[in-house]
Amino acid sequence: MRASDKPSNKYRRAKMRNVLFTSGPNKITRGRLFRKHFDQRIDIKRVEISTPLWPKELDGLRIGHISDFHLGDLMPMDRALAAVQMLKDEEPDIVACTGDVVDLNALGAAPLFNAMANIKAPLGTMLVLGNHDELDCVSTISNMALNSGVSLLRDGRCTINYNGSKLHVAGIDWAKSQKKCSAKVDRVCRDETHLLLSHNPKAFQGAAQHNIPLTLSGHTHGGQLAVRDKPDANLAVAHKRSHGLYDMGDSRLFVTVGVGAWFPLRINCPAEVAILTIHS
Ligand SMILES: [Fe+2]
Repeated sequence: MRASDKPSNKYRRAKMRNVLFTSGPNKITRGRLFRKHFDQRIDIKRVEISTPLWPKELDGLRIGHISDFHLGDLMPMDRALAAVQMLKDEEPDIVACTGDVVDLNALGAAPLFNAMANIKAPLGTMLVLGNHDELDCVSTISNMALNSGVSLLRDGRCTINYNGSKLHVAGIDWAKSQKKCSAKVDRVCRDETHLLLSHNPKAFQGAAQHNIPLTLSGHTHGGQLAVRDKPDANLAVAHKRSHGLYDMGDSRLFVTVGVGAWFPLRINCPAEVAILTIHS
């Protein structure tokens, strides 16, 4: 169900890709493709991250990082809610969702935002939008997030007071190129930032220039198809950093492979929710 009456050219192209790689092949296989896809597991990935830039008072903070649901054909609501429940069971201090909550259409996503807010992490649930969230109707998605109590950062910042210390969080909207990502980081992160959320991992270059301790991203899906035991050898060839943890000086980037998919296949790249423990 769409929120917007007039599809943009980007929406039309995305719909075409969906027919070619997802709904079309599924019809040909009489639904077998989707059934096989839904049988695939979602892992919990636990990662310890250290950087001297991280504030000492926030040492040991646990971030629940979830991304790229792509709610739609390949992510029914019950599977999305199950992924959120996995995160909730881990009792993270803060939840970060790095976008692509929906695949093509904005309507119907409210229960997912409500579930993310209902994790009730002490520092809240933070969200940035991805390129797919912009395909149908950004204001519909934004209103759903805000009505649920999820904190949406659209080229914005916020400060969270926690146990007498402050966590400065920034989030940027989708930008395709490294140059455009860096321009957004320059604009939004003029003051001290501890945690940057950016759907596109290409923001990391700019984040490292600002000495931002930690950037969280999604978008790549880890390529979805990777060589066994070589997660960096994958289909996301447009991305130098497509899977896991990266360093630049004392700055760190974590790219999650996400919970969803844009075509119904994952090989050597299982879907995941991530629990990140950050040390100073
Ligand atoms: Fe995505």
